[in-house]
Amino acid sequence: MIKRQQIKDLLKSTDFNTEVTVMGWVRTFRNNQFIALNDGSCMGNIQVVVDFNNTDENLLKRITTGAAIKATGTLVESLGKGQSVEIKATAVEILGDSDPEKFPLQPKKHSLEFLREIAHLRFRTNTFNAVFKVRHALSFAIHQFYNERGFVYMHTPVITASDAEGAGEMFKVTTLDFDKTPRTDDGKVDFSEDFFGRATNLTVSGQLEGELAAMAFGKIYTFGPTFRAENSNTTRHLAEFWMIEPEVAFADLENNMELAEDMMKYVISYAKENCKEELEFLNNRLLEEEKQKPQNERSELSLLEKLDFCLANDFQRLTYTEAIDILKASKPNQKKQFKYLIDNWGADLQSEHERYLVEKHFKRPVILTDYPKDIKSFYMRLNDDNKTVAAMDILFPGIGEMIGGSQREERMDVLKQRMDEMGVPQEELWWYLDTRRFGSAPHAGFGLGFERLVLFVTGMTNIRDVIAFPRFPKSAEF
Ligand code: 4AD
Ligand code: MG
Repeated sequence: MIKRQQIKDLLKSTDFNTEVTVMGWVRTFRNNQFIALNDGSCMGNIQVVVDFNNTDENLLKRITTGAAIKATGTLVESLGKGQSVEIKATAVEILGDSDPEKFPLQPKKHSLEFLREIAHLRFRTNTFNAVFKVRHALSFAIHQFYNERGFVYMHTPVITASDAEGAGEMFKVTTLDFDKTPRTDDGKVDFSEDFFGRATNLTVSGQLEGELAAMAFGKIYTFGPTFRAENSNTTRHLAEFWMIEPEVAFADLENNMELAEDMMKYVISYAKENCKEELEFLNNRLLEEEKQKPQNERSELSLLEKLDFCLANDFQRLTYTEAIDILKASKPNQKKQFKYLIDNWGADLQSEHERYLVEKHFKRPVILTDYPKDIKSFYMRLNDDNKTVAAMDILFPGIGEMIGGSQREERMDVLKQRMDEMGVPQEELWWYLDTRRFGSAPHAGFGLGFERLVLFVTGMTNIRDVIAFPRFPKSAEF
């Protein structure tokens, strides 16, 4: 059995003069003597000092950046700057060579663009170590939050026949070979021969199935991958992303807003408590980047200050119509840019409107409610004005839409009418309609885009840098 100590623990240790064994990947090797070794347990490296006079020359040559090694030696207090301990090696063994001519990660700062091209190796950098530790902590915190509150974690299907959002942005799933499958008279693929016997797709949201479960367990949440076949090449969109979708029976829009705000604050403060070193590192990384920008483009708050601010302040709540009024009252120059939306009540907000509200006007997370019914999904509860629905979008500074949710339409007649209006086939969602047929009740829920949360907490700016293997148009290499 392999035995080793974690570098994370050794860096804090004061057990000097004991024998230790570490295994990890070489970050740098200086003067044939000093190895900076990292094992992924933390961002820090431990210095392994090699007795080069008594080490085989061929072995020394194989200690290269990227190589995996095992080092055994004595833990001693370090006299060097920036480190408290080091290992005086008595034996070094190469576990896996790394050809320095070919290994793409050099001991220097690489651009995120370059690292995106080598996504299979980028975990070995400090930035990605920090980002993925924070991602881990946030997902753990989400489970803890819901578990503490008695929610049941539901695994909703990835393969489904329903289009939960009614937006038609679905990846098709089939066992058919389209080239060989006979077509129906009108030229369409005959899915009756398929494994599922019908057209299926990858889920865009677990909400509809989540509602079924909420109408039995009372409180549930999902946390799984969702897929959108939208051709958007932005820094905020992925074709495969993870979503957290709580659904609560006997709850209205206010309960929904409260749950969402509590959850956001809980998970952000969990990350602050449990990822101090990582967030400190990411904060400094961002400060360095800000220094490169002209003064007027620099962010007013540092990453850590942004997180603190978010925790200390209530999210601003207002309706879509109130938001338009705020845009109307903006300075003439600004107002000109908002003309279309101001003149067309019912149009959707674009990112420039959201940014104005969140970053310029309120300078904090904003919960926008009661959107015009035509720009929202069929399942959202119709308000008494017959024009708006009990929807909520939570907008975050620097991110835009973080959360989308609503109180659900529990009245069968209204729901059916909304489905007809929006072209959602009732016969395909008969099982969903059954919840309204048998013991319907007010209920509400929302979806949090997990990668957007990770973006906010890490201060990263491209969503492709906070998911291990990003899927976007023309991306899937592995
Ligand atoms: O607003 P959306 O489409 O809402 C739903 O899917 C509802 N069924 C949720 C619910 O009520 N249970 O998506 C929810 C969130 C968005 O606010 C956004 O954060 C994220 O999912 N999201 C994406 N994240 C990354 N890439 C994409 N292409 C995304 N589309 C949505
Ligand atoms: Mg949305």
